[in-house]
Amino acid sequence: VRSISLLGSTGSIGVSTLDVVAAFPGKFRIVAMAAGRRVEEFSEQIRKFPPLVVSVEREEDADRLRELLPSYRGKVLSGAGGLEACATLPEADTVVAALVGAVGLSSAYAAVKAGKRLALANKETMVVAGELISRTAEETGAEIIPIDSEHSAIHQALRAGKSAEVKKLILTGSGGPFRKRPLESFDEITVEEALRHPTWKMGPKITIDSATMMNKGLEILEAHFLFGIAPEKIDVLLHPQSLIHSMVEFVDGSLVAQLSRNDMKFPIAYALSYPDRFANPFGELPLAGRILEFEEADARRYPAILLAREALTEGGAAPAVLNAANEIAVAAFLDGKIPFLAIVRTVADTRAAFGRRNSPQSVEEAREIDGEARRLAAECVNRFSGARV
Ligand SMILES: NC(=O)c1ccc[n+]([C@@H]2O[C@H](COP(=O)([O-])OP(=O)(O)OC[C@H]3O[C@@H](n4cnc5c(N)ncnc54)[C@H](OP(=O)(O)O)[C@@H]3O)[C@@H](O)[C@H]2O)c1
Repeated sequence: VRSISLLGSTGSIGVSTLDVVAAFPGKFRIVAMAAGRRVEEFSEQIRKFPPLVVSVEREEDADRLRELLPSYRGKVLSGAGGLEACATLPEADTVVAALVGAVGLSSAYAAVKAGKRLALANKETMVVAGELISRTAEETGAEIIPIDSEHSAIHQALRAGKSAEVKKLILTGSGGPFRKRPLESFDEITVEEALRHPTWKMGPKITIDSATMMNKGLEILEAHFLFGIAPEKIDVLLHPQSLIHSMVEFVDGSLVAQLSRNDMKFPIAYALSYPDRFANPFGELPLAGRILEFEEADARRYPAILLAREALTEGGAAPAVLNAANEIAVAAFLDGKIPFLAIVRTVADTRAAFGRRNSPQSVEEAREIDGEARRLAAECVNRFSGARV
């Protein structure tokens, strides 16, 4: 039985993880669970999967949870300390990192430091401190198995050959809701339109990242740090049907692709059962009659991909700055403060204002870079507030 600590249980990945756990009775059990502010949903989850420890973002919500669950016998914690306690619980062998944003870094790092298997959905962790996380995992022997569908596909495809035989990784992406929208009308994009993803149902932050395709940019960075592949060997290809989740090209000209229905339960089940595969009830993928299309990603339509590549080439603190600025800009767009086009402008301007610094060698350093970049990004947001870009 795998014992799981699930961080971010009330989110899109969190809920799918609990569906996976429920689908395999006797294979997995939940020993710790953390959420943010959706306390009512969280209390229902705790009733269904009573863990040893739970944690919420704020202490006042921990009190509310105790009121809602008078007969719950486990520990109720809060804040960063609560997240870390869940991530390092001795009874847990696997930590599912499903928080959104750089707030997930400390707990993911704590899990890796404690030698747990990290089933990683929270890509921002790898973007902000990829070197630190990979080095620590090497030291402690912690396995990192990606949940992001593209990286899960690559993880699976890489099993078909030796690392020296890899020619390149090809990350596929649907192109988001604006693949065909005339560029002249991008300044009129509404929040509602940007939240309407054509193929995946996900949390709001990653859905906006998919509309700008900063998501693919973050994934290039994630792939580089996870698999140790040089930036120039990581390509992006648009694939509107989202059935091929990514591919690896080997030196002999063979392309190995992974396909499954577009449902995150597949990569989650893979990360939890690896190196085994469990027969699951999540449905098949009938291919007869399906058409698979591919096209290049147009740099004018998706400048975020280029920004992410530049941050990777520059290295040091640049990926962390890119990520922090993007988080601030996406939140401002979702709040209706800035137009869609100002998201990428905020990221570019923040990067220019920040200058060069070395990559974070500790979680504290990462937090410092993140905080400084957020301050600069907030200034950009104020400038773009209500403006046409
Ligand atoms: N959704 C997908 O299909 C998908 C696919 C690939 C990768 N990912 C990646 O997976 C991660 C999660 O995405 P998501 O779409 O599942 O996001 P989401 O639906 O917004 O869920 C985020 C989770 O994090 C919790 N949270 C946020 N801030 C917190 C804090 N300070 N302390 C404790 N908990 C906190 C939220 O709690 P409350 O809601 O209770 O506040 C929620 O449980 C992201 O990094 C995303 O890029 C997601």
